[in-house]
Amino acid sequence: MSSDFEKFAERLQEEILEDARKHYTEIVIDNWMHPRNLGKIEKPDSYARITGPCGDTMEFFLTIKSNIIKECRFLTDGCGTSIACGSIVTELAKGKELNQAVGITQEIVLKTCGGLLPDDEHCALLASNTLIEAIRNYKR
Ligand code: FES
Repeated sequence: MSSDFEKFAERLQEEILEDARKHYTEIVIDNWMHPRNLGKIEKPDSYARITGPCGDTMEFFLTIKSNIIKECRFLTDGCGTSIACGSIVTELAKGKELNQAVGITQEIVLKTCGGLLPDDEHCALLASNTLIEAIRNYKR
């Protein structure tokens, strides 16, 4: 049986989700609440870290074989939208050739997630730029 505190916490989470659904698509909420590929790779073949103008930082870790992204993980200290966008970018990047993966732009992320509020669009840019920087670092 749930305690009063657990019931309160469940209700609070439901209210937060209710509110989030007014502004964000289900894809964004799902990737925010259940981020894919969150965490670091200990010995990545490539890495990038970018701090955006908002002050939040994103890191990408890649393992690459025969020019194909085998594993792609990310970390961020940013907002829920940046977590969602990082997650979406890792899913888009995995299994892609490097030349295809550099095409995962902010526009592609926005299209994939069904759009973001104008104030949040820079979170998609931070995620795509960090992936692209990690690919460039590998090629250097
Ligand atoms: Fe900084 Fe979203 S507000 S990444």
